[in-house]
Amino acid sequence: MKVLCIGSMNLDFVYSVDHIVAPGETEASASLDVFLGGKGMNQSVALAKAGADVYHAGLIGEDGKVFLDACTEHNVNGKHIRVVEGKTGHAIIQRDKNAQNCILLFGGANQLLTEEYVDSVLADFEAGDILLLQNEVNMLPYIVDKAYEKGMQIAINPSPYDEKLNAVDMAKISFFLLNEVEGEQVTGHDDPDYIIANLLGLYPEAKIVLTLGKNGAVYADKNQKHYQPIFKVQAVDTTAAGDTFTGYFLAAVSEGMDVPAALKMAAKASSIAVTRAGAVPSIPLRAEVEAALAE
Ligand code: RIB
Repeated sequence: MKVLCIGSMNLDFVYSVDHIVAPGETEASASLDVFLGGKGMNQSVALAKAGADVYHAGLIGEDGKVFLDACTEHNVNGKHIRVVEGKTGHAIIQRDKNAQNCILLFGGANQLLTEEYVDSVLADFEAGDILLLQNEVNMLPYIVDKAYEKGMQIAINPSPYDEKLNAVDMAKISFFLLNEVEGEQVTGHDDPDYIIANLLGLYPEAKIVLTLGKNGAVYADKNQKHYQPIFKVQAVDTTAAGDTFTGYFLAAVSEGMDVPAALKMAAKASSIAVTRAGAVPSIPLRAEVEAALAE
């Protein structure tokens, strides 16, 4: 089974700051690092490091060819990535002394997908393959419709949440992977039980993974519900922690691992990611995750 992620590639400009800058305030940053990121690429790398057969598709500008090298380095099949005119997406990230961050996105090439491009990518996949999406590229409604027609299983991480997602036919989604903020944005309530019940009420066949920050994560479908606490660590950078969780969880269940074990592996992988700086570079290899789980 192949996993296709049609998703963003961002150059992450990460500024270390004492505190997240307030409106009207000017603050000097202590350092600037540039990392590879984008929710799509982060999740593809996490899937690959977890052992999945993953293909990443999306668009970059001439300034983003480093993502092609990254695919080769991390065992992600990048043959569908196209270089287009314009700038690669980027993110301005402030990372404060408590490892919290805030992210400002510039979509760039991520927002230039066309029907022709999507069709050419999907032609390489078949019924049963998994499609993973986030909300950092355009064309999501079209992608979902076309992938569903083919019989692909569709997983969505509705992040960052915005009103464009209302145009997506969510009844075609098999997996929802979201955090508590997105859960509230989608359902209008912040109670995890309500969020899950609401989503399962609307989409009874779906599988829901709701991450709850320091309160762990919950999985639910119509037959089972499981809770996974976090592994406590000293965080230095939380960027891509959720992406690591998403990639690891999907890779684990797609290889047939049971849900409690998949949740545990995803939680451990993301606990390692937050101890390292950056997005793509912070994502651990499966061997590291398994060694840490065995400790
Ligand atoms: O989820 C983290 C990612 O969000 C960063 O890598 C940044 O590029 C934004 O897409």
